[in-house]
Amino acid sequence: MITVSNLAIQFGKKPLFSDVNLKFIPGNCYGVIGANGAGKSTFLRMISGDLEPTRGSVIVGQTERLSVLKQNHNEFDAFPVLDTVLMGHRELWSIMKEKDALYAKSDFTDEDGIKAAKLEDEFAGMDGWNAESDAAMLLSGLGIKEDLHNQLMKDLDGKVKVRVLLAQALFGNPDNLLLDEPTNDLDLETVMWLENYLGNSQNTVIVVSHDRHFLDNVCTDIVDIDYGKIRAFSGNYSFWYESSQLALRQQVTSNKKAEEKKKELQEFIRRFSANVSKSKQTTSRKKMLEKINIDEIQPSNRRYPGIIFQPERQTGDRVLRVEGLTYEQDGEVFFKDASFTIEKGEKVVFLGKDNRVTTAFFKIIMGELIPASGVFEWGVTIKKAYLPLDNSVYFTKSEKLVDWLAKYSDDTSEAFLRGYLGKMLFSGDDLQKDVQVLSGGEKMRCMIARMMLEHPNMVILDHPTNHLDMESIQSFNNNMKTYQEEVMVASHDHEFIETVCSRVIDLTPVGVIDKYMDFEDYLGDPNIKEIRTKRYNR
Ligand SMILES: Nc1ncnc2c1ncn2[C@@H]1O[C@H](COP(=O)(O)OP(=O)(O)OP(=O)(O)O)[C@@H](O)[C@H]1O
Ligand SMILES: [Mg+2]
Repeated sequence: MITVSNLAIQFGKKPLFSDVNLKFIPGNCYGVIGANGAGKSTFLRMISGDLEPTRGSVIVGQTERLSVLKQNHNEFDAFPVLDTVLMGHRELWSIMKEKDALYAKSDFTDEDGIKAAKLEDEFAGMDGWNAESDAAMLLSGLGIKEDLHNQLMKDLDGKVKVRVLLAQALFGNPDNLLLDEPTNDLDLETVMWLENYLGNSQNTVIVVSHDRHFLDNVCTDIVDIDYGKIRAFSGNYSFWYESSQLALRQQVTSNKKAEEKKKELQEFIRRFSANVSKSKQTTSRKKMLEKINIDEIQPSNRRYPGIIFQPERQTGDRVLRVEGLTYEQDGEVFFKDASFTIEKGEKVVFLGKDNRVTTAFFKIIMGELIPASGVFEWGVTIKKAYLPLDNSVYFTKSEKLVDWLAKYSDDTSEAFLRGYLGKMLFSGDDLQKDVQVLSGGEKMRCMIARMMLEHPNMVILDHPTNHLDMESIQSFNNNMKTYQEEVMVASHDHEFIETVCSRVIDLTPVGVIDKYMDFEDYLGDPNIKEIRTKRYNR
């Protein structure tokens, strides 16, 4: 159990949030939601003890363990896979190391003997003898075969690495588990595995996510950061969303009497609960919508950024020609013999066996990576703007947000930049902020602002919705739908690609599968399914 009392944090003039009083109880899974920059990651860092609050305290139950899913994927590069998982249980790991050091001594004294006996006791108390087999089982459950268990982390493929880190966080069944946007880096299969794991967990889980589907599948409670407050609501995400929308509608039609409003909300909750109990999606710990305090439901305060791409000129007839393009990495074929042309106005979704494939392809056509063979040629009228999957290289220097943006703008007057950043929901104090402290979503908004300033007629997007809150995703999605020029995109956001794209190019190890159809039709077509299976399983 985690108890948060009178918690407040303040970086600039205004506190991010204050007077936070909450209890996080075992058996519940809390979904932390809020706009980009609301303070979700900051809140988790204060709970894990990584960051000192300005005021107030966080108390984790005595003798309880707390574990965090690490965001830095390279932190354990020097260690073997199995050790990395064992390190998830810090106390156990340090006892193991201490023991090893003692037994390795050449001058083992009586005193050492007593110490060793004590350590053995503690080790056994933590079920240490089963630790390695437990860790191995957890890894195998996540699809990491035994021959990988003794390899070094640095030699693993990025996708496998994240799964090891997930195993590390879950190892030893921690009483309290903190996850900050876990689904961003996980493949669909692992996300489903995690949903199932969390659904059956008897511990306290706190998870930050912008993924509505994931939140609905795992959460028993929603913790909303808004209005400088943090408040908890029973129920899943859809319930929170629908009820806050209803509260908003009621606020607009304020002529209704309080009594009537309350009745309307009660009716809503009754209907919603009925649906929830029918749905298989809800977790085994389904409960207590009845307990909801209607007076506490508040309309949401979220805002939509103004994402509008305006091309400087229209594209000519020639956009992009790709011929015989092949890329390999360490003997592994990413894609081979990719040949196609992109025509004016086309919006294409790119698929591959995993993210590395599409990322490599985009880097090649952006001139950042050399292909093994093949050529590509851009039309002379094309003005590209590229959103890379990893934007960290853009934020390595400490500088003010307004200066960062000025580097990419023709008009560098303060008035222009201020207005421009305002549309991207940065205001007042924000402009003087160091870009290095920006949240994940704020950095994405900066990258999108930078792209808009290029006035492109070709937009290349490598996972555009990662880190963005739902309002930003919707603005981005809407604009890409109406944008008249070309789009090339890779994304796991079904809605985004389904509504934007009308052509699918699948970069397989044996040429491309290239179809003029919607993404869902593509996935659902039995003939295509057969071709895909053949090409990917060779
Ligand atoms: N050291 C700092 N100094 C000043 N401001 C900071 C500092 N650390 C974080 N911030 C600001 O605090 C706010 C909250 O950041 P945080 O990373 O917690 O947001 P978040 O809710 O996790 O957002 P996202 O959804 O984008 O991940 C942001 O506006 C961020 O710029
Ligand atoms: Mg965050």
